[in-house]
Amino acid sequence: MNETNLRITLAGRPQGWPEAEHFRVEQAPLPQPGAGQVLVRNRWLSLDPYMRGRMSDAKSYVEPVALGDVMPGGTVGEVVASNAASLQVGDLVTGMLGWQRYAVADAAALRRIDAAGVAPQAFLGALGMPGVTAWYGLQQICRPQPGQTVVVTAASGAVGSVVGQLAKAAGCRVVGVAGGERKCRHVVDELGFDACVDYKAGRLHDDLRDALPDGADCLFENVGGEIFDALLARTRPFARVALCGMIADYNNAEPYRMKNLRAVLVNRLLLQGFIVSEHMELWPQALRELGALAASGRLRWRETVAEGLEQAPAAFVGMLRGDNLGKQLVRID
Ligand SMILES: NC(=O)c1ccc[n+]([C@@H]2O[C@H](COP(=O)([O-])OP(=O)(O)OC[C@H]3O[C@@H](n4cnc5c(N)ncnc54)[C@H](OP(=O)(O)O)[C@@H]3O)[C@@H](O)[C@H]2O)c1
Repeated sequence: MNETNLRITLAGRPQGWPEAEHFRVEQAPLPQPGAGQVLVRNRWLSLDPYMRGRMSDAKSYVEPVALGDVMPGGTVGEVVASNAASLQVGDLVTGMLGWQRYAVADAAALRRIDAAGVAPQAFLGALGMPGVTAWYGLQQICRPQPGQTVVVTAASGAVGSVVGQLAKAAGCRVVGVAGGERKCRHVVDELGFDACVDYKAGRLHDDLRDALPDGADCLFENVGGEIFDALLARTRPFARVALCGMIADYNNAEPYRMKNLRAVLVNRLLLQGFIVSEHMELWPQALRELGALAASGRLRWRETVAEGLEQAPAAFVGMLRGDNLGKQLVRID
């Protein structure tokens, strides 16, 4: 193969919103697989909010990406050369191969996917990390009972859309919070949520009170900031809060200052943050259950697709801004 490898590396650390200058689009020599390794031609790249954290060198639960390194990311691709008995040329695999067209990886670090009946990129969304995130926070932290009320923020997104559908399948009343009328219509009409609050409509507190007249037994929090603060005040006694993400703060130099933390005490809340990659032992169960729900037609998803790897930086910033409906992907040509 004479081809070179198109890839996107981290060129600078953003202080606020990431911009084009923080990424470098470059050509590199094609990597060669060693013993036990394969060369993968990536077809799909997942864009996820956690990548913003990896661009920063602030203290976090993982090390930052080094300047000059390939941006990290989940991928689906095809094995094009193999030095490993467990993977053959032509196999479809998913792994963390980053923002690049080709990558070499240990076969053991990849998962072969059987995409029969399902588009392979679904393994980056509802049937992959975001789906497992939804499953973990809901089933392991919220533990919803039939008849209870679940509220989820960033409701039309990759994680939130799955949370709501899992909660419906568990017999709950489900309220979403999303930005804009189109997103709210989608979660109610297409995903089957019972109600949705458009936080951009300018009546956040009143609309949350109307949508949650008796409060929420589970708050699945993806956003943080003012919306999280307002929702804490709508929790019922002994509600569970699965603190999954705080995207509203990811590009802010100054974090939002909470006003309603008192609700944690007054309502005796259980508030648990979690990182889905720390619970790998539960992924097989989660993926089995998500796959079964999808096969029965009770788990649906939308995708927003950017065409071409060069579009990844702009699509990434667009996703942080809320331009995406459902899972944000890049098709790597
Ligand atoms: N803990 C874990 O292991 C784990 C794993 C995966 C994801 N997460 C977290 O889960 C959350 C959702 O991730 P995702 O992959 O499903 O992304 P997503 O929801 O598909 O996309 C991000 C969405 O966040 C919303 N958003 C952005 N800024 C906002 C703001 N200031 N206020 C309110 N909403 C805002 C936007 O939707 P609107 O247009 O509706 O505002 C945007 O579409 C993120 O916080 C992410 O970090 C955590």
